[in-house]
Amino acid sequence: MKIESVIRYFQRGLISFMKDRVKLGTTEIAISPLGIGTWAWGDPFVWGYGKESYGEADLQEAFEASHAGGINFFDTAEVYGLGKSEQFLGRFIRECKTPTILATKFMPFPFRLGKSALRRALHSSLDRLGLARVDLYQIHFPLPPIHIETWMDALADAVDAGLVRAVGVSNYSAAQMGRAYNALAARGIKLASNQVHYSLLHRQPEFDGILQLCRDLNVTLIAYSPLEMGILTGKYTPATPPSGMRARRYNSAYLERVMPLLDLVRQIGAGHDGKTPAQVALNWTICKGTVPIPGAKNARHAIANAGALGWRLTDAEIAALDRASVEVT
Ligand SMILES: NC(=O)c1ccc[n+]([C@@H]2O[C@H](COP(=O)([O-])OP(=O)(O)OC[C@H]3O[C@@H](n4cnc5c(N)ncnc54)[C@H](OP(=O)(O)O)[C@@H]3O)[C@@H](O)[C@H]2O)c1
Repeated sequence: MKIESVIRYFQRGLISFMKDRVKLGTTEIAISPLGIGTWAWGDPFVWGYGKESYGEADLQEAFEASHAGGINFFDTAEVYGLGKSEQFLGRFIRECKTPTILATKFMPFPFRLGKSALRRALHSSLDRLGLARVDLYQIHFPLPPIHIETWMDALADAVDAGLVRAVGVSNYSAAQMGRAYNALAARGIKLASNQVHYSLLHRQPEFDGILQLCRDLNVTLIAYSPLEMGILTGKYTPATPPSGMRARRYNSAYLERVMPLLDLVRQIGAGHDGKTPAQVALNWTICKGTVPIPGAKNARHAIANAGALGWRLTDAEIAALDRASVEVT
């Protein structure tokens, strides 16, 4: 099927998809229950890496196909592609008639020693994006030496200056998230999100208290690498593991071990009108109350991942997946 006809097919369903929005934390910002991650957009290490190469035209098609599939939430960072990801995304957003919710991130490098560093980095991000403000601005990692409270103060200043609509953190533990929450509350601002690694093959946030704290505080858990860097699509096997940077972790032995889970994912998908393993894996993260942001490098990925929306796994299927994932991880 041609890409134009696929996009037209999704446009017909756009109105119904658009009703399906969730709040980002307790803000008024309404996002699709699934976003798109753009780490690989322009990244010199992942550009063309994997079985297929891709370029700017593919990324623009991924952006447009995502919107056509009802996805309005895109995640980037100042460090992705050394700024190229923000540049691509900003241009696509400016040229798009449908409103986009944009999240980016500040990296607290150890040489960034105070609030003014965040202000400068934010202005640089806005320049690259070509936008007047960011919907969600996140601290990328809880790195020393600057205290969490200082960065929260800087984020609150950015909100007061009208440069940022909502603030979040990423890779924060439950304790660090609590500190961030309290520091922002002292400035009258609610922490909107914590972006952490969460997938059927990485359920740490369920066991270390992060997911529960997100639920308790009404903070959105944004699930990154929800497809476990492509493994949960089922396209890699012990005989054909991924190449490049992923090869070391996701080697043949790892893939051998997780096959029983992938078999179950396939079986469950077949019972939902042939949903793919990726769609089942993403739906599972949505059913857990999180917002997954799978990476998409082309329209095919974006369209496939949008197919995780508009249906739900049953409680029994979620429980079966939970059990199978514990057995293989
Ligand atoms: N805050 C953080 O520290 C942090 C860290 C990591 C990621 N993130 C965010 O999370 C996003 C997603 O994470 P991720 O890129 O690491 O992993 P992911 O979403 O689990 O996997 C993405 C990869 O899977 C493959 N893929 C995606 N959809 C597919 C489909 N429908 N069919 C077949 N293959 C498909 C593609 O790679 P191949 O085609 O090459 O297999 C794609 O690059 C990032 O873009 C970024 O925004 C944040």
